[in-house]
Amino acid sequence: MKIFKSKSDLKIYLAEEKKKGNRIGFVPTMGALHEGHLSLVEKAIRKTDTTVVSIFVNPTQFDNKEDLDKYPKTFENDVALLESVNCDVLFYPSVDEIYDENVIAEKFDFDGLEHQMEGKFRDGHFDGVGTIVKALFEIVEPDVAYFGKKDFQQLQIIKKLVEKYNIPVKIKGMPIFREKDGLAMSSRNARLTKEHREAAPFIHKILKKARKKTGTKNAKEIIEWVENQFKQHPLLELEYFTIAEEKTLISAEKFEPKKRYRAFIAVFAGKIRLIDNIRFKNN
Ligand code: PAF
Repeated sequence: MKIFKSKSDLKIYLAEEKKKGNRIGFVPTMGALHEGHLSLVEKAIRKTDTTVVSIFVNPTQFDNKEDLDKYPKTFENDVALLESVNCDVLFYPSVDEIYDENVIAEKFDFDGLEHQMEGKFRDGHFDGVGTIVKALFEIVEPDVAYFGKKDFQQLQIIKKLVEKYNIPVKIKGMPIFREKDGLAMSSRNARLTKEHREAAPFIHKILKKARKKTGTKNAKEIIEWVENQFKQHPLLELEYFTIAEEKTLISAEKFEPKKRYRAFIAVFAGKIRLIDNIRFKNN
């Protein structure tokens, strides 16, 4: 696997790949890789000719300094994992390489998608995500880029970014990878205490139970039921649970035919904030 720290060296290398007619698949990450990331990389390897993974903990998308400082960094393990699946290229830039002296985010208008859910609780988060993903797309110029559906709102926002800026890349959303006990895989899981790790599968259990209620209860009633489940939980604190239409991400009170809905949740397990979501059947 080739490792590049410099964007100009990476660009020169990829220009040669493109000249050979190779299609570029891209998986942007913040490192601390797990099986979920690897599934994206393996998909890119199967579907394109040259697979590029980036590892960059993007400071402008963190609204909480402690979360940024403590974000897990496991570079050597990440390299070994990427080599084990035969990834072609790793881009591992420094903050200066990406931002020069100005470590600030651009302001974006994602037609309101940025004001829902995560946008309400993580100030400026999607400006930071938009800034880094746009910058990485400009450097890598991928044909296809892969993102996990665990960050479903991020996925929809990146699709909007690509549409608004006419970026010639196909965005692929990939299924959520879960631990055996149902907890959605996340780099942040490594920071959970033993007791919070044991408690965390409750999140997915509640999502599944909530989904079962769609036949008999409306969205408002399901939200109340979920809120009550967390009020009774000694270790997990609910930040939000909502049911929203997939396209607009606007919260729904009742289910309309022909629309797709998804439930979204954010929970504090001690100091660690976990998010998850589940597709709801339409009725
Ligand atoms: O999902 C992530 O890991 C990050 O938000 C991303 C897309 C790599 C941008 O920093």
